[in-house]
Amino acid sequence: MSKQFTKSEVAKYSTKDKTLIILHDKVYDVTDFLNEHPGGEEILLDHSGKDSSEDFDDIGHSSDAFDLMKKYLVGELVHEEKTYKTPKQSWSTSYGKNETNKKNEGMSPTIMLAGLMILLAAAYFLYL
Ligand code: HEM
Repeated sequence: MSKQFTKSEVAKYSTKDKTLIILHDKVYDVTDFLNEHPGGEEILLDHSGKDSSEDFDDIGHSSDAFDLMKKYLVGELVHEEKTYKTPKQSWSTSYGKNETNKKNEGMSPTIMLAGLMILLAAAYFLYL
């Protein structure tokens, strides 16, 4: 099993000699990658000790980058602090597959239905 970290542990263990970064609930030690990062050392240092998933995704990394990441993986966040939902866990693919996953997944279709109704209402008023 991989090593479990809390976010505050990642922040604490990240020093000027060690650069840990959280990406999609996983923890990467990029200390040895700083000089090789095509996006530059500075940006990794700026994100040291933090959850950088959003910025990382905004930049849009290639599949080569994702392959490379595996080399620097050192652990993951403790279950309670995980926030990133992989597509596998989303309601659209797992909905109805098993009873245990159903509990928190009832909202998404409801939200979609509400959105659809708002759109229909807007269309109705526009064409009145
Ligand atoms: C283990 C973590 C990371 C790995 C292995 C990695 C790897 C790479 C690679 C291979 C590239 C070249 C372009 C590509 O193939 O997509 C790249 C570019 C880049 N990365 Fe990362 N990266 C990591 C983390 C980050 C983080 C946390 C940030 C900032 C939030 C970041 C920002 C950038 C930027 C700004 C570029 C340049 C994009 C461009 O010039 O278009 N990277 N990275």
